[in-house]
Amino acid sequence: MNNSGPIGVFDSGYGGLTVLKEIVKTLPQYNYLYLGDNARSPYGNRSFDTVYHYTLQCVKWFFDQGCSLVILACNTASAKALRTIQQQDLPKVAPEKRVLGVIRPTAEIIGTFSETGSVGILATNGTVASESYPLEIGKFFPETKVYQEACTMWVPLVEANEHKSHGADYFVKKNIENIFEKGEEIDVILLGCTHYPLLKEKIEEYMPVGVKLVSQGEIVAESLADYLIRHPEIESRCTKNGQRQFYTTDSVSDFDNHATIFYGEPVCSKHLDLE
Ligand code: DGL
Repeated sequence: MNNSGPIGVFDSGYGGLTVLKEIVKTLPQYNYLYLGDNARSPYGNRSFDTVYHYTLQCVKWFFDQGCSLVILACNTASAKALRTIQQQDLPKVAPEKRVLGVIRPTAEIIGTFSETGSVGILATNGTVASESYPLEIGKFFPETKVYQEACTMWVPLVEANEHKSHGADYFVKKNIENIFEKGEEIDVILLGCTHYPLLKEKIEEYMPVGVKLVSQGEIVAESLADYLIRHPEIESRCTKNGQRQFYTTDSVSDFDNHATIFYGEPVCSKHLDLE
């Protein structure tokens, strides 16, 4: 198996591009290979088994492309598939390769942003049901109270390009009100889904004044930079020509049209058939 190649960045659809955008700003020298599994997105309402099988299939594809390091830039995949892939699959299929997620680096730092010791997590059904955030945050900030709200409709709204529509207001307002009913002392809200930064303006409209809204892109980028310093054996296998390649499992033209909103630059993708 080829061990030298780009850093793989994966999401169920477009959301991971909000993370890739920040990673590229922080670490522009590396080559990146992005895969959006748009044909099977959203993952958020799917079972553990399904998300695990889809994610593993995509991770193996990254490995076949020579990636030694793959970032699951998707909270749902990080919550439902990462641990099994790291503990059961990697030792068998590619013990020298690494797969990292976005929940751990976020959990390591989120507690430092709160003065009240109460943090709200907005995420997909799957991420909320997995309890990954309360569990991981509890390891680093045992005193911090974690409140969660599953925002069932937010990913479909973003994927359908309806995130700026009036219809989106109904769902954003409802979920924001719900989370502050659960914990009125919350002073930090984490966007625990990589699609949600696109809804940032609307979310801010409905949030109480003074509450801090945190996206994951910069956190993940900083954490990756640190990881690469601490793991020279992986870093040396990441190619460095500043190249970016994009793949989607669905329509290339739809992906290219929509991806720019997330990535901030024009994107030219290729199709990947996983069936
Ligand atoms: N972007 C993914 C996440 O961070 C979500 C997606 C989905 O429901 O497919 O959770």
